[in-house]
Amino acid sequence: MLDAASVLSDRVSAAIEAAFGLAGEDPVLRPSQFADTQANAALALAKRIGKNPRDAAAAINDHLDLSDVGTVEVSGPGFLNITVGPEWISGQIAALLADDRLGVPLQERRTIPVDYSAPNVAKEMHVGHLRTTIVGDALVRTLEALGHHVIRQNHIGDWGTPFGMLIEHYLEVGADSAEAALLATDPNAFYQAARAKFDGADDGGAWAVRARERVVQLQAKEPATIEIWHAMIERSKDYFHRIYDALDVTLTDADLAGESTYDPMLADVCTELEDLGLAVVSEGALCVFPEGFTGREGTPLPLIVRKSDGGYGYATTDLATIRHRARTLGADEILYVVGASQALHFRMIFATARAAGWLTREDGTEVVPVHVQIGSVLGEDGKILRTRSGAPLRLSWLLEEAVEKAGAAVAESRPDLSADERADIARQVGIGAVKYADLSVAHDTDYIFDLDRMLALTGSTGPYLQYATARIRSIFRKAGVEPATARETVAVVEPTERTLALALLRYGATVAEVGDARVPHRLAGYLFELAQAFTSFYDACPVLTAPDAATRSSRLALTAATLAVLEHGLDLLGMRSPEQM
Ligand code: ARG
Repeated sequence: MLDAASVLSDRVSAAIEAAFGLAGEDPVLRPSQFADTQANAALALAKRIGKNPRDAAAAINDHLDLSDVGTVEVSGPGFLNITVGPEWISGQIAALLADDRLGVPLQERRTIPVDYSAPNVAKEMHVGHLRTTIVGDALVRTLEALGHHVIRQNHIGDWGTPFGMLIEHYLEVGADSAEAALLATDPNAFYQAARAKFDGADDGGAWAVRARERVVQLQAKEPATIEIWHAMIERSKDYFHRIYDALDVTLTDADLAGESTYDPMLADVCTELEDLGLAVVSEGALCVFPEGFTGREGTPLPLIVRKSDGGYGYATTDLATIRHRARTLGADEILYVVGASQALHFRMIFATARAAGWLTREDGTEVVPVHVQIGSVLGEDGKILRTRSGAPLRLSWLLEEAVEKAGAAVAESRPDLSADERADIARQVGIGAVKYADLSVAHDTDYIFDLDRMLALTGSTGPYLQYATARIRSIFRKAGVEPATARETVAVVEPTERTLALALLRYGATVAEVGDARVPHRLAGYLFELAQAFTSFYDACPVLTAPDAATRSSRLALTAATLAVLEHGLDLLGMRSPEQM
């Protein structure tokens, strides 16, 4: 039992039952200024049981035995102030050190497809995709650590009308040309070149006609066209993977489930919606008018599932996606880690899927779809981050810049290391800085992209946390001890030892909260507090020069527990912890 809060809540609930015969009551544990925690159940229960809160608290206290944990006292209008004792903390830290999971609970296994990253073929990945990629990856890592069956779904944009023009251009320049190679290095340039031909007026529009015919062939799965399309997608995958490798993101080819995957299901989705009476033809287009969505002047808002020209769009694909994930993948919960600007789209998709019965399983339980809304990355002017010329900023360029700046800092601080070692640290720190900056703010808020601040060694930054782990490793190197063997009993004596130990014991509950509420920034904030608690401990309590051997091993064990939790937590955020910095 590592989780202090759950021990206390079980005990207080049992005491409430013993005192008033009420089973399963919430003990209402809250942080307290005067104790480690306070149980406020008496205030909530008082009216119901017809006692004044202070008497109710006293009655609970009469049945509450925390002698092995710490002390309790009734205070104020009816709080139960609970202070945990040093022996109990010490026992809990021993359990933490013996637990591979470091207190992270194994939750009841749920199947959770997570839609994230989702860049578009023949388009540059921009900073918007940076966030859905980083936040999505932290969520899948966390949910997996909690024991869930996560199915990564990279919903790349690999289908639709622009592909006629892109295929036609690819065919013309030839697979081995420098122009075709741009797909993997500068996809926007490839797109622009195709677009220029499409728009070019000097051939009387003949090229554009061919591009439109090509779309028809693609839709009809004409073999030669499909072959070229495949070749093109392969090229783009190289590009995505280069970015994913640079970012240390867990997505692989096996996770690709792009828009094209759903093309064979679209007609059936439309038929099903029509048969259910949910989709109707309006002005030539097949539309769903999900309940509760109105435009200006209260007119019902349509979700267009088949355009008047017979074509399908983004919404149709997402209806097929949600039906597939619920029915075929057997989802309990479906996460869409996508920009906040698409909120209305997803609300309408979810409402339609619900109305169609796709989210209700045979046993009557509901599949829960969640749009994890991603805010924008802003420039220093507070507007969407762009280059000086106004073009969207290339993600690859931003990452290179971060690594380069980190490299300059390492060159200055560690001239003793080899160039290779420095390059390795620069990569881990540069990328870690960008990822942490993204993960440390709530996913649905905007933030300003400021590399210098992200790379700072002080404050809530990636490098600060990575530095804490590197510093701990250097303590162990100096001690000549392997962190994994520092397992002596931790004596909780000094106030900073106590604060650090209690912070370590909160890890499991924090990870559970991050998974349940999908809030990676809580983990980032927790790790920052933990690193700060370690810094205060290390300033106040000499480890290597501790006054005696027992104190030294106790402090080394506490330091080892800190390292284990920091590394584990950084890994859940998708960040490396360098050996040295
Ligand atoms: N490719 C889209 C974009 O770049 C994001 C797709 C998100 N996922 C989804 N199922 N709609 O905006």
